[in-house]
Amino acid sequence: TFFRTTTRDVELGGTPIPEGAKVLMLLGAANRDPRKWPHADRYDIDRSTAGHVGFGGGVHMCVGQLLARLEGEALLSAFARAFSTIEPDGEPDPLFNNTLRGWVRLPVRVRAA
Ligand code: HEM
Repeated sequence: TFFRTTTRDVELGGTPIPEGAKVLMLLGAANRDPRKWPHADRYDIDRSTAGHVGFGGGVHMCVGQLLARLEGEALLSAFARAFSTIEPDGEPDPLFNNTLRGWVRLPVRVRAA
């Protein structure tokens, strides 16, 4: 979730919103909208990710996303080289946070490559 403040009266999805109102955006929900993402729960490596809002959008789009993407690529590439399998190994522990999803603990079992 992120907040925005309206700079003028607007109508969004049929709901009038006055100027100066705080609007809470649920970006995580947008990434799971079935009109855009059928089978959002399925891990689909062939899915086109164009149009996701994991890094926001517009003028406030994440300025750190190139670094974040590089870190992700470095980590996942190192994992893929080091391990032949990575599997869940126990119940994950969700992190309770009003803004971001995450895990306190995500147990996995790996097998060396
Ligand atoms: C996987 C990692 C990351 C995710 C999922 C993420 C996600 C986001 C999202 C959704 C926004 C938009 C916020 C909004 O619309 O109000 C944002 C903004 C921002 N992010 Fe990230 N981010 C990540 C990593 C980073 C890193 C590594 C940095 C800095 C090195 C960073 C710096 C920023 C900054 C400064 C903004 C505000 C940009 C603005 O308001 O103009 N982020 N990020």
